Amino acid sequence: MKKLILAVSLAMIAIGAAHAAPPAPKQQGIEGKDYKWNAQEGEKIEALTKKGDKKRGEEGYETCAACHLPSGAGRTDGTFPQLAGQHTTVLIKQMADIRAGLRDNPTMYPFAATLTDAQELADVSAYIEGLCIPVEHGTYDMKPLDNKDKNWKAPADTAQRLAEGKALYEKECKECHGANGEGVKDKFYPVIAGQHYKYLLRQMTEIRDGHRRNANPDMVKIIKKYNDSQLISISAYQSSLVMPGNMCKPKAAAAPAKKK
Ligand code: HEC
Ligand code: HEC
Repeated sequence: MKKLILAVSLAMIAIGAAHAAPPAPKQQGIEGKDYKWNAQEGEKIEALTKKGDKKRGEEGYETCAACHLPSGAGRTDGTFPQLAGQHTTVLIKQMADIRAGLRDNPTMYPFAATLTDAQELADVSAYIEGLCIPVEHGTYDMKPLDNKDKNWKAPADTAQRLAEGKALYEKECKECHGANGEGVKDKFYPVIAGQHYKYLLRQMTEIRDGHRRNANPDMVKIIKKYNDSQLISISAYQSSLVMPGNMCKPKAAAAPAKKK
């Protein structure tokens, strides 16, 4: 135990010294000639080869819950993405990229830096992947949480948006992200089903505009030609997808109370 505490404090000191502030952004990932997308190296490849321990991962996840919530549901306003059910490969890649300065995330960086090593990345990822997928999430036609207007109505163009989004998605995105938005674990293609509409829209805009530097170059090529309105429609469609899997049970409180 003493040994463990010593190891942890040494690691914290090392982290404190090396990662006091987020690393300076690396050269443009997308266009940079020295940058190869998803190079299999560093702590990422190490974490991918380790078996994650969910029990230890649960402890490691405590610092994450403040933003991503204990359920891993994130926030419907899209500030924090839903993580529950995401592939471990995707979680490890994104966290390793954030830690290495290949994906900018100044809000989360100090917390991502507290994960001590590749084993802890694997542990936390295994825990998150195993979480049940929340039943509710932010969609295009959802009333914003801060909107108190009693006469609020869902956008009138919802059906049209979903239809346009579906057509675009099935043409150029399905191949990687899957018919139900389930992604492909072995290829690092994320689950996008059940993700919050506003988070999806922000990510796609950033990927299109070259701000998410770790993005898959083949996806960047495709998404570059979409205008803002098309991105809204694809995000609306993606957030309407439900993938078959480990869904959480609806809250018991939602069931009608029985009379005795
Ligand atoms: C202070 C708030 C905060 C904390 C704490 C936090 N995150 Fe995040 N996290 C974010 C934000 C904000 C984003 C989305 C950034 C963006 O929009 O690009 C994010 C994104 C992510 C992503 C990428 C998701 C995707 O779909 O690509 C992963 C994985 C992640 N967080 C895991 C974690 C883990 C694991 C921890 C705990 C070690 C953690 N986060 C702690 C705020 C936080
Ligand atoms: C060649 C495979 C490929 C294609 C085609 C592709 N994507 Fe992606 N997409 C990826 C990968 C890989 C990532 C993760 C980013 C990274 O680290 O490279 C990603 C990330 C995303 C994200 C962010 C997810 C998150 O959790 O942050 C969204 C949203 C997305 N893609 C939507 C789309 C849409 C919409 C299309 C079609 C217009 C599309 N993708 C086409 C591979 C692809």
